[in-house]
Amino acid sequence: MAIGYRSIACVCIAVMSVFAVTNVFGHGDVQPQAVDTTGLEPLGDEWLAENPYSGNELAIKIGQDGYAKNCARCHGLEAVSGGLAPDLRELEPGAEGDEWYIDLTRNGYVQNGVPKMPGFEDILNQEAMWAIRAWLETKFEQ
Ligand code: HEC
Repeated sequence: MAIGYRSIACVCIAVMSVFAVTNVFGHGDVQPQAVDTTGLEPLGDEWLAENPYSGNELAIKIGQDGYAKNCARCHGLEAVSGGLAPDLRELEPGAEGDEWYIDLTRNGYVQNGVPKMPGFEDILNQEAMWAIRAWLETKFEQ
């Protein structure tokens, strides 16, 4: 009987440490969430280097929601940075900024072995990532 209790305790500790690690990485609040991209023209498996949805009204709406769910906890509400991560309003609009944006968003960013930003390739599809970019472009400020 005693052994049974001990192994239950072990499982609990293991489960709790997994949660602790997830929370540290996710800053403890909002977990990354899939974004519903219904209605947007599907983009297929090939990754594009430029945003096909730039200026697309539906994409901008979906992107605002996608940003709030996945990026705001680090980059700030409405893309206004609180200092934890760069202010994405300053990201260059158009093709120049697109390439940098999609690379960072897909792969994340690791500096000297320390993960600074998670990659979103397994969480968001290409449609969702470009929708977020379409919304960010509407927030552009020098
Ligand atoms: C866990 C915190 C975190 C989350 C969540 C996060 N980022 Fe980041 N992001 C960072 C940090 C930190 C950097 C700065 C990396 C560096 O250069 O040191 C960064 C950099 C970037 C850059 C480059 C900005 C520049 O000025 O060069 C882009 C683009 C970006 N993030 C987009 C996104 C998008 C889009 C999302 C949501 C889908 C997102 N990030 C979610 C932390 C985060």
